[in-house]
Order: sequence, then structure tokens, then C-alpha cells
Amino acid sequence: MWSSRWLFVLAAAGSAVGLGNIWKFPYITGENGGGAFVLIYLICVAFVGIPIMMAEVMIGREGRQSPINTMRALVQQHHRSPAWVLIGWMGVLAGFLILSYYTVIAGWALYYILQMAQGTFDGATGAVAESTFNDFLSDPWRLVFWQTLFMVMTVWIIARGVIKGLESAIRWFMPLLFVLLIVLLGYAVTTDGFQQGWDFMFAFHWEDVSGQTVLVAMGQAFFTLSLGMGAIMAYGAYVPSNASITSTVSIIAILDTLVAVAAGLAIFPIVFANGLEPGQGPGLMFVTIPLAFGQMPLGALFGTLFFLLVSFAAITSAISISEPALAYLVETYNAKRGRVAITLGVISWVLGLGTVFSFNIWADRHVVGDLTFFDFVDYVSQNVMLPLGGMLIALFGAWALPKTVIGSQLGLQEGWVNVVWKVVCGVIAPLGVLVVFVATVIG
Ligand code: TRP
Repeated sequence: MWSSRWLFVLAAAGSAVGLGNIWKFPYITGENGGGAFVLIYLICVAFVGIPIMMAEVMIGREGRQSPINTMRALVQQHHRSPAWVLIGWMGVLAGFLILSYYTVIAGWALYYILQMAQGTFDGATGAVAESTFNDFLSDPWRLVFWQTLFMVMTVWIIARGVIKGLESAIRWFMPLLFVLLIVLLGYAVTTDGFQQGWDFMFAFHWEDVSGQTVLVAMGQAFFTLSLGMGAIMAYGAYVPSNASITSTVSIIAILDTLVAVAAGLAIFPIVFANGLEPGQGPGLMFVTIPLAFGQMPLGALFGTLFFLLVSFAAITSAISISEPALAYLVETYNAKRGRVAITLGVISWVLGLGTVFSFNIWADRHVVGDLTFFDFVDYVSQNVMLPLGGMLIALFGAWALPKTVIGSQLGLQEGWVNVVWKVVCGVIAPLGVLVVFVATVIG
């Protein structure tokens, strides 16, 4: 059990805030044209993300086991179809896929700690920052080295048990990360790209909206809030019974959104001030941020600290991605946490090699259409599996659990369960996901 509601907030925020906010959100905003994407993303967080996060915490706290076993126990207890347990299994699979590439990108952040500390970017131009990054990507062995290092660190932490070490660390690192983002933001305001960066993020143009934009925005809402695969459900199992789910979840979602928007506002002005390309893809953060620090006094110091904090944010997320599978194996087979952690790590590491090679020796190999291995794994997990899992979780949380259970979990009177919860979580959220899927298929 978390020692208080605040520790759950910290742990869940630690899971939510990660590469998704600082690396992914800016780069897919860039690829999808800016303002329209941001607005749709915010709508998805509010109307789909928050209700589904509440459902995950509620189901986890009701079952108090790993997601697979929680679903098993709840379908038995309430005489529902065992098919619901598939939610748990799909989550475990999605977790492997996500962890496999998450560790690769987090490895880049580790490498950049070193680069910043060595002063590689002091006074660098946009061209230098770009070529430093491209050289790094073209070398599979260097990428594998940093991927491996990050995976070993993750496995080591999850093997020792999550709570003790992390609680105290998250308490310090999260606020510090926020402060550094504000420093970067302060710098971005002084560049002459600020107005353009601001407009890029907040000016809404209808012509930029397609089914695809909406699907990617929704996938990002799931990814950034850690939803759809049982990670928050697994954490929810340790939440004290008297904590309010509504307010706790709102705090987590607001924090997470603030970090993403701050990262975007810090990055895009630098893109425009240096004549860089907003839609350049996964390298965006690794080019713009070093560039900004390279131009600031004490930049090497702040830059080192920044990538250290990003790596830390990534670790607190990576451990939550593996928690559903880990908890399931430990609980069901009474296996040793350490052994399970190593096994999971090895499997994800091997899968991750596909992502490493997607940036160099397999760059021209396309798995489907023009998607590389990385693009494909990323697309299927984020844009298909997480929304699908989230939709099922919402339906289960609204319709399969008895009113009395929902009422006592959410502190709602039974009459209100029908009016509020079944409408928001049982209809609006799953319908939103469905409409986006259908709209994308129709194009
Ligand atoms: N939310 C994290 C981020 O933004 C990533 C993450 C952690 C995640 N746990 C998850 C994504 C579970 C999907 C599902 O970086």
C-alpha cells in the first residue's frame, strides 16, 4: 500500500510524466501541424483520458491484485464473462512493445547527459546539433550500448521493489524537472522565435484536422497518461481506500498536461529561431534542447541536469510499464521478483533491437506501408492497443461492475452513478474512442 494518497499521486505522476511529455508530445505536435493537434489532444485528455484513468484506479483498488488477476477476480465475483480478462493480457503485450522502444529512446537521453557535460554543444549551431544527433543514430552499437544501460537500470530497480527508493527520489526530481523546464521556457521567450512557436502550438486551423490527426492525438492522450494497459490499474491496487479518486486523478492529469505544454512551448520557439524543421520527427528534442543550452550561460551544467532529469522521468515511467506483467508473474507463480524482472528485461531488450536498427541498418526496411519497425511497434501499441484497452476498461468500469461497488469506490450515491458515471465513463469516453477509430478507417 502507498503510505498516503500523496504518494500515489507522486507514483502515478512519475509514471505519467516521462518521454511522452518531453520527447514525444513536441515531436508529434510538429509532425501533425501544431495547434489543431494540441487542441484535440487536450479534449481527449479531458473527456477520454480522465474518466478512463478513474476507471483504472477504481478497478485496481477494487481488485487489489495485478491487472490480470484483478480482472479474473472481478468477473468471478460479479458473474461476468471471462473474456474481460483479455484486457489484462493485451495490456501485458502492449507493455512489452512499449518498453522495448521506450528504453531505446531513454538511452539517447542518457547519452546526452554525457554529451552536455562534455560541452559538445557550447555555442553550437543548428547544423552542428543536427549532425551530432544524426551521427549518433547511424551507429547501432552506440545505441545498443545506451539502450542496454537503461534497461539494466530499470531491471535493477524493479527487481528491488519499486516503492522505497522511488518515493524519495520522485519527491525531489519532479519539482526540479519542472523548474528546469521553466528555465528553458524563460530562454525560449527571449528568442525571436517565441511568437511563431506560440502560434504554431495554439493557432487552430481546421484544414489541419484529418482522421489521422485525431487518432494520433488520442493515442498520445493514452500514452502520456499511462492508460489502456493496466499500469495505472496496477498502481491503483495499492491506493488507500479512503482517497478520493476524482480529485487524485484530476491532479495527475493536470500535472502531466502542464509538463507537456511547457515542453512544447520551450522547444518550438527554438525550432523557429534557428530555422529548424518542426516536423523533423523523433530527433526534435535532442536537437533543439542542446542547442538552447549551448547558447546559455552555464548551459553545459543546466543541460546535463536537464537530461539527467529526463532520464529519471523515463525510469519512473519504464517501471510502471513493466509492473502489470511483473506483478502478475510474481503473484501467480510465486516467482522471485528478481528473476522475473531479468526475464522481462531480456525479452524487451531483444525486441528493442528492432527499434535501434530502424534508425540505421533497417532504416529502409518497411514492415507495413512506409513504416519502419519502430514506427510500426509505436503505432500499433500507442494508436491501436492502448485506445482499445482503454475503451474496454471504461466499458467494464461503467457497465460490468455493480452500482454499489462504483458508488462506494467513487463516493457517489447510487442515483448519481447512473447520471454521471455511466454517462461519462460508460458512454462518452468509449464512444469517443470508437468514433475516432471509425473516422480514421473511413479516412
Ligand atoms: N506515460 C509515460 C510517458 O509519457 C509512458 C508510460 C508509462 C506509459 N507507463 C505507461 C505509456 C503505460 C502507456 C502505458 O512517458
